Amino acid sequence: MYYADYLHLDKVLDSQYPVSFEAGNTPAHDEMLFISIHQAYEIWFKQILFELDYCERIFNQSHINDNSEDLNLVRHRLQRITRILALLNQQVHILDTMTPLDFLEFRNLLTPSSGFQSMQFRLIEARLGLQLQKRHHADYYKRTNEGGFTQHDYQTITNTEEQPTLLQLVNNWLERMPFFDETFWQGYASDTPTSFVQHPFWNDYRHRYFSGLTEREQGKIDDFDFVFFEANQANLSEEQQQILRSQFTPKALRAALFIMLYRDFPVFQTSYQILDALIEIDHMLSNWRHKHLIMVRRMIGMRVGTGNTSGAGYLEGALSKHYIYKDLSGLSTYLIERRRLPQLPEALIRSLGFGF
Ligand code: HEM
Repeated sequence: MYYADYLHLDKVLDSQYPVSFEAGNTPAHDEMLFISIHQAYEIWFKQILFELDYCERIFNQSHINDNSEDLNLVRHRLQRITRILALLNQQVHILDTMTPLDFLEFRNLLTPSSGFQSMQFRLIEARLGLQLQKRHHADYYKRTNEGGFTQHDYQTITNTEEQPTLLQLVNNWLERMPFFDETFWQGYASDTPTSFVQHPFWNDYRHRYFSGLTEREQGKIDDFDFVFFEANQANLSEEQQQILRSQFTPKALRAALFIMLYRDFPVFQTSYQILDALIEIDHMLSNWRHKHLIMVRRMIGMRVGTGNTSGAGYLEGALSKHYIYKDLSGLSTYLIERRRLPQLPEALIRSLGFGF
């Protein structure tokens, strides 16, 4: 094997064609940087999708051993995605060395192409769990006319959106966690009065959570009941319910909270790090959206984008709306201090120590 052949450098390095260098145009030096940086992004997007393939394959299994190599590799590969995204965040600074006037030299030659049409970026979003109807300006995405997608890319994105997302697969995995089976809780000493919450652990936890709230926070118990038990004794308005409604089921959220609370037990380490990596991926994507927005404001001000959206205005909307795992990061609202956690029963501790 020869280095250049193995890497197909003939193709890779013969793929940068600044349009401004074509006959009849005035060469714009910075167009080369503009092309290289977009291509570098697309190669990393491809790697992210490759890592997601693996994670989805594992989560698609009907049973995953919590102490297995599979789950450890999912953790490892999700963490790899967070590192790639950290690098992609850094790359924005390289593009910052191009000034707005430099960009103007070739900007018109790009129209109507735009990063908006990056199919791989849309596939990453869709596969992580961003739904079309939850997007800022969903109508922008339904376009196959000027500034929109080609029919082929549009169809690929639509087909992908119909597949189970990583969020749904993680939800199902969380729902299958067996920790609340009755067998583990025989002999558990509950120390609070009973309420509408059936399981003794959650009844105790709810009580402890409530007693730890400050006066101003008392209403959080209604959110707790709605989020984890779909209970609405406080008559929350439709709008409040809408805000609290999660893409995860209450059962999955209870499992996720339990993992976060008892993450010091060995068997929860990997599961906890998987949840943490998903939160981190969301944060990194959001950081990127922010950096990209600031760069775009500086580069084109309030002009419309080459992809035919309102430009910075659209990007600002996407930044505030396109969180995917905010329901996981939002679980911090419902944590209590370690020292106040209910003491788990022996049977469960034995399982948590050695795995299932
Ligand atoms: C001079 C540099 C850049 C400018 C002025 C710019 C401008 C814009 C604008 C205005 C949009 C909104 C859609 C539109 O109407 O066009 C957009 C979207 C987008 N751009 Fe850029 N961009 C730049 C660099 C990049 C780079 C380096 C990437 C890397 C792949 C990128 C990826 C994206 C993506 C993925 C979107 C869609 C974002 C979303 O829908 O949340 N852009 N860009």
